[in-house]
Amino acid sequence: MSNGSHVLNEQVAYYRAIANEYEDHAIDQPGQRELLAAVDGFRPTGDVLELACGPGLWTRHLVQSANTVMAVDAAPEMLARARVRVGSAAVRFMEADLFSWEPDRRYDAIFFGFWLSHVPEERFDAFWSRVGEGLETDGRVFFIDDNYRTDAELIGGSGSPIIERRLNDGTAFRVIKMAHQPAELERRLQTLGWDIAVTPTPGPFYWGAGRH
Ligand SMILES: C[S@@+](CC[C@H](N)C(=O)[O-])C[C@H]1O[C@@H](n2cnc3c(N)ncnc32)[C@H](O)[C@@H]1O
Repeated sequence: MSNGSHVLNEQVAYYRAIANEYEDHAIDQPGQRELLAAVDGFRPTGDVLELACGPGLWTRHLVQSANTVMAVDAAPEMLARARVRVGSAAVRFMEADLFSWEPDRRYDAIFFGFWLSHVPEERFDAFWSRVGEGLETDGRVFFIDDNYRTDAELIGGSGSPIIERRLNDGTAFRVIKMAHQPAELERRLQTLGWDIAVTPTPGPFYWGAGRH
């Protein structure tokens, strides 16, 4: 197994371990208001796919306007929390590793929150191919994320995609955290055939909205 796979496994282990204290680690930085307003304005209809749903914070928003939501995550502990939080028959949950997952059908919209920054460079193009395969011709993509990395997290320096995250009890895990810059990310997605506007906020958060 390559070193890269080790980190991706550790990333899942981190999220499994942190599921019950996930909200304690929210990033307290400017731009959250703008981000929430952007998600509110998304209002997807039809059948929606949510990637890396975590404890369902966004799932409950999506299901307000969607007919159905299929929410995917690799951590059973996150899915268990999401099921309790969302409690809607219109939402189905699936445990899957997004690095080997393939979409089961085409959806009217695909949403992912704070996931893209956890996709390593060498898997970026393949990830977006899978998103394209899972989207109806006129389907919409919407994502939110941040490029926030503290000095303490940068165990490999600011040029490394690998950072260290800690649980409340101090247990350390390595995860991928790509510090995407919105304008550069937008250009890169264009080269892959996407028409997605990536909008920065006054803080480290940004969102992307568009189509293939
Ligand atoms: C930063 S959290 C985002 C959760 C949720 N979308 C939100 O915004 O609150 C990242 C999520 O990715 C999930 N995850 C990590 N590696 C994964 C993988 N290989 N496949 C699927 N999900 C994964 C974690 O379990 C976690 O729920």
